[in-house]
Amino acid sequence: MLHEYEYKLAELICRNIPSVERFRMLGSGTEAVMGALRLARIKTGKSKIIKIGGAYHGWSDQMIYDLRIPGTRF
Ligand SMILES: Cc1ncc(COP(=O)(O)O)c(C=O)c1O
Repeated sequence: MLHEYEYKLAELICRNIPSVERFRMLGSGTEAVMGALRLARIKTGKSKIIKIGGAYHGWSDQMIYDLRIPGTRF
């Protein structure tokens, strides 16, 4: 948490969406995906992640696999 309004937003979301037990705000989608992968690995004890080819999930090395960028070779 970097700013009091992030805290206030978290309170608002948790109050209005009962299924939300915890709230974490991150700086980007890439960072959120990396955090989700780490959490999934810790929770399941498994190391491998299935990623759908061609889909964009941010610029981290582990998620850039099979991303097709027009004009580049892959
Ligand atoms: C599914 C998904 N994951 C990750 C990202 C990456 O987000 P960011 O560009 O904020 O790093 C995006 C962005 O469009 C996305 O759609």
